[in-house]
Amino acid sequence: MYCFPRAVILAALCGAKELAHLQSRNQAISLLTSREDELVFKLGDNTYLVNTKYPNAKINWTFSEEPNQQWFPVTIISTNASAITQQLLEDTISQYLAIDDVFSKDMLGAIAITSTASKGDLEESAIDSLSSSGTKHVLIDRTISTSSTKVAKSPSTLKLPPGPYLAASSGDSISFSTIYRLYSDDHDNFLYGSYEPNDGTGRYTALGQRFPGSVFAAIPVPSRLYSLYDTRPFAGFRVGVKDLFDMKGLKTSGGSLAWQSIVDPSNATAPALQQIIELGGVLVGKTKPAQFASAADPWSWEDFNYPFNPRGDGYLSCSASSSGSACAVAAYDWLDYAIGTDTGESMRRPAAVSGIYGQRPSQGMISLENVLPLGFATDTAGVFARDPHSWAHFAKHWYTPSLHQSSDITGLSPLDVPDNKRYPKTILYPTDYLPMENSAAQELLDYFVSNLSSLFGMRVKHFDFTSTVQNSSVSTQAVTNLTDLARHLGTINTLPAWEVVGSRLVSTWAARYGGRFPPIEAEYRAGWATYDETINTMQAYNVSLIAKRDAVDWYEKNLQYSTNESCSESVMIYDIGTGGLPSYREEDLNVGPNATLLAVQSPRAVLPASGICTIFACADFTVPIGQVPYLSQVTFVEEMVPVTVNLVVKRECDFVLYNMIEQLADAGVLEAVKTGRTAF
Ligand SMILES: *[C@@H]1O[C@H](CO)[C@@H](O)[C@H](O)[C@H]1NC(C)=O
Ligand SMILES: *[C@@H]1O[C@H](CO)[C@@H](O)[C@H](O)[C@H]1NC(C)=O
Ligand SMILES: *[C@@H]1O[C@H](CO)[C@@H](O)[C@H](O)[C@H]1NC(C)=O
Ligand SMILES: *[C@@H]1O[C@H](CO)[C@@H](O)[C@H](O)[C@H]1NC(C)=O
Ligand SMILES: *[C@@H]1O[C@H](CO)[C@@H](O)[C@H](O)[C@H]1NC(C)=O
Ligand SMILES: *[C@@H]1O[C@H](CO)[C@@H](O)[C@H](O)[C@H]1NC(C)=O
Ligand SMILES: *[C@@H]1O[C@H](CO)[C@@H](O)[C@H](O)[C@H]1NC(C)=O
Ligand SMILES: *[C@@H]1O[C@H](CO)[C@@H](O)[C@H](O)[C@H]1NC(C)=O
Ligand SMILES: *[C@@H]1O[C@H](CO)[C@@H](O)[C@H](O)[C@H]1NC(C)=O
Repeated sequence: MYCFPRAVILAALCGAKELAHLQSRNQAISLLTSREDELVFKLGDNTYLVNTKYPNAKINWTFSEEPNQQWFPVTIISTNASAITQQLLEDTISQYLAIDDVFSKDMLGAIAITSTASKGDLEESAIDSLSSSGTKHVLIDRTISTSSTKVAKSPSTLKLPPGPYLAASSGDSISFSTIYRLYSDDHDNFLYGSYEPNDGTGRYTALGQRFPGSVFAAIPVPSRLYSLYDTRPFAGFRVGVKDLFDMKGLKTSGGSLAWQSIVDPSNATAPALQQIIELGGVLVGKTKPAQFASAADPWSWEDFNYPFNPRGDGYLSCSASSSGSACAVAAYDWLDYAIGTDTGESMRRPAAVSGIYGQRPSQGMISLENVLPLGFATDTAGVFARDPHSWAHFAKHWYTPSLHQSSDITGLSPLDVPDNKRYPKTILYPTDYLPMENSAAQELLDYFVSNLSSLFGMRVKHFDFTSTVQNSSVSTQAVTNLTDLARHLGTINTLPAWEVVGSRLVSTWAARYGGRFPPIEAEYRAGWATYDETINTMQAYNVSLIAKRDAVDWYEKNLQYSTNESCSESVMIYDIGTGGLPSYREEDLNVGPNATLLAVQSPRAVLPASGICTIFACADFTVPIGQVPYLSQVTFVEEMVPVTVNLVVKRECDFVLYNMIEQLADAGVLEAVKTGRTAF
């Protein structure tokens, strides 16, 4: 156990007398040290994490005045100016404070100045002003000259991005390590926080700690200043990851304690996540999924506490199965994005109830290698965001052709995804799925449709989706029999989950625990307990895949098709959300006319609207358009529930739809949503 003389350490460790060292600038207070040289300390109001084992840089140098001081925060200030003046330093520090939530004034006790100019000159007055505001140590890069005698010159070039670091001295060298600010996951959306300890293997480590003094997970986020000059498209983006995706070094739980207990830590990071990392993104932790990506209701979760939705009264559903990812993006300003998957609804409905942006992309847009499957040919991965432009930016860089899935997996033609402004001409308005239950929400939808129509000159076509498909005269009724296609979906979604997860879990559990069946939630229990491999054959799977492909071919010729002017001739709209009513995490509260269960099937339709793109491989995006009031059965006052609309285009037209969404945002029809109780 460390004992850091100059820092104020927990009384139990090193004695309460250390408190005497507190000065006007807040001093770091060590809260705990743990395995792997992790150090958690408090500075001012914030709590930080550092792993000192694999520092980012090391220089031969000591802080001569205070040889006993073993660690302290140091801020690297980076400039390209050749004249480093007091004004320049003050402006830079103000800029840093404005853009970063990790850096704080309490980290200015020691600073290091680096310059990208070939020669820099540091004015003596600048040093005097720093020291009068409490900076005790100034280290300057070797390229910078100064007449001041109060600064030390680094013996070697400090090749580190700007921002706060933890300097730790040992012998005659000082190492600089990444500082993460810890946030408390107080909506219980994460399983745990994680970070990459910089050991050169690309492995992640799970943060063992809860947030100090709390029951919630602690999520580490790095300083935004580290990416200030990083030109990669995702530089510094903080991204949460649904715990179906493998991150090297971490176990993928799939939301199951039983599964978690039989698997090893992943030995590779999923290619879809690797793409995020290579573009500069930072994976900050694993979010809670419904077990094995099921559509379980909040009250059916057994293994983990159901995540909390920040909207409305705080007792609203996060839906399933990317629940934790969606509600985290709705809850936390410090989180930029979260990744999820969608098979039957699992990006789109969580986005709807959280009042944020989230998409089911065209089938096959991104590799799902090293991701626990539900259906190989129906699973997709999407990203949740609060801002329409940031959302489009992420998707366009993430869905790179090299990560498209092969036809062997999707059973469909290879993707060719254009990025142009060949927008739809028609708004398809399915009367078997609309209007919404709550007329106030329907009014918002009507505004949206009229805005969409007038902005792009689109005509609105009311139609009945179910009978249009089922009445269509085609030689083989199979491709338009929605009941039959739903049955094929069942086959497609049953075999992969069993082959990859179920069979292994059931047989391993039986072997380990005297023939017992594993404790899993009701959604999969009966199906896996009676799974019949002679019915769910690969042959049956192939038959269903072909039926799906035929249906997609029909859809793309007859319902949503390309023309010379449009990637997708139409955009279809519907509501995957609650129709403007609250849906509570407590089952009984959903009884009665003023609340609703999720996934209530329209009596006029054969298929849930959410199933349309699962069968027909189309792109289906949830976008928030407003909010409506409801009288909460929890807080007993009026609260707001988000209203969203779903936009559906033909497979491959994702980027065209993103371009349209960005134009809607520019026109003020769509806007960024806030975190917290209300989205707007
Ligand atoms: C630091 O000092 C050690 C020995 O004193 C030397 O081997 C090493 O090269 C020095 N490192 C740098 C970066 O100057
Ligand atoms: C220094 O950086 C600023 C801000 O990034 C930029 O506007 C300016 O052109 C740069 N100056 C030089 C000399 O590179
Ligand atoms: C990772 O584990 C899998 C299955 O356990 C194995 O097939 C694969 O070779 C391993 N990959 C590496 C890079 O070790
Ligand atoms: C959207 O439509 C509503 C109602 O027709 C109208 O009042 C509003 O100005 C429109 N907004 C934009 C940005 O076109
Ligand atoms: C579909 O067929 C049914 C039954 O024949 C008929 O009532 C309905 O009007 C038809 N719908 C369409 C859109 O043609
Ligand atoms: C549609 O498929 C279902 C289930 O496979 C079948 O029972 C029904 O007869 C089919 N309907 C038509 C019109 O072919
Ligand atoms: C299923 O389809 C795949 C891909 O076309 C093929 O490789 C495999 O042999 C088929 N299996 C069966 C049992 O039909
Ligand atoms: C679409 O473009 C192709 C190639 O330019 C042309 O041959 C065809 O006539 C066009 N179709 C229509 C409906 O304009
Ligand atoms: C539903 O809400 C309406 C309007 O607020 C109210 O008049 C009615 O009593 C409510 N019904 C129930 C069963 O709570």
